Amino acid sequence: MLLEVRDLHVEFRTRDGVAKAVNGVSYGVDAGETLAVLGESGSGKSVTAQAVMGILDQPPGRITGGEILFQGRDLLTLKEGERRKVRGAEMAMIFQDALSALNPVLSVGEQLGEMFVVHRGMSRKDARAKAVELMDRVRIPAAVERVGQYPHQFSGGMRQRIMIAMALALEPALIIADEPTTALDVTVQAQVMDLLAELRREYRMGLILITHDLGVVADVADRIAVMYAGRIVESAPVHDIYKAPAHPYTRGLLDSIPRLDQKGRELYAIKGLPPNLMNIPQGCAFHPRCPKARDICRTDVPEVHAVDEDRGSACHFWKECLNG
Ligand SMILES: Nc1ncnc2c1ncn2[C@@H]1O[C@H](COP(=O)(O)OP(=O)(O)OP(=O)(O)O)[C@@H](O)[C@H]1O
Ligand code: SF4
Ligand SMILES: [Mg+2]
Repeated sequence: MLLEVRDLHVEFRTRDGVAKAVNGVSYGVDAGETLAVLGESGSGKSVTAQAVMGILDQPPGRITGGEILFQGRDLLTLKEGERRKVRGAEMAMIFQDALSALNPVLSVGEQLGEMFVVHRGMSRKDARAKAVELMDRVRIPAAVERVGQYPHQFSGGMRQRIMIAMALALEPALIIADEPTTALDVTVQAQVMDLLAELRREYRMGLILITHDLGVVADVADRIAVMYAGRIVESAPVHDIYKAPAHPYTRGLLDSIPRLDQKGRELYAIKGLPPNLMNIPQGCAFHPRCPKARDICRTDVPEVHAVDEDRGSACHFWKECLNG
């Protein structure tokens, strides 16, 4: 396994109290595999990714337990210097908002080239040639002419391609893309997602794709991990989930996807709101919103049941859910 997160716990200590953002997350990605991480806003998707990348805001954030094994090493035991070498060269992250992730006063060529100057000791001239090559790779038209331009001179979709190019520059083994297309309009979204999927295949990277849009993952992901209140509530190969979810929350997410064949039908929405992370409900955290909740759900935390050898569900009634 390329990356294996085991029983990760992260909390944020704020003036108002302790927010338990990640409460025992375990997930893994193999080389060449795409794991989609889904869940509503605040479920802990980004915080988990930040812990993996080593860019968690600490304080107020604090990793209170778990392991992050990357190519066999536990990243949580590395010194910051070693950690920095892993970041960028061996794993890279793509963010939602390219404009704030890129440096506004450096040309895109300088920013892309910088990766090769700093990490590979290349000359400026060679690094610039590499930058052009990368811009071509991510299909930015007229790369030679545009390499000297600044981020604000590119459209949103093109900026996102530049960020993908930055992430790819050193050919990392793992890329984490955190809502990489959310800020783009729908057609551009599809193009950027296709590009990412294609490059992932070509470079045989592991990819963690964070999104709250179940609609986009069907074509690109191999596996899905669904998060709720800082836990993985269901994890499965993508096709199994679409066929029959084994958790009522996954069912709710699936039923809230707009479908072309059901135009005009009122869209389903999961009732209620995500929980307050300073006061997560007892038992199953989803019980106040779950249409299948019973007494045991209010008292007993469901463990992860093996639905299949490569599939798990944290629901007391996963069998029932699987059967519809
Ligand atoms: N810098 C921070 N300071 C305090 N609390 C934080 C901070 N970052 C995250 N949190 C807490 O962690 C929770 C989970 O945040 P996270 O960013 O992982 O959510 P997410 O699943 O990525 O949601 P979204 O879909 O909105 O991006 C937040 O709801 C918040 O309570
Ligand atoms: S454990 Fe109970 S409340 Fe939680 S998802 Fe399953 S049925 Fe719903
Ligand atoms: Mg997020």
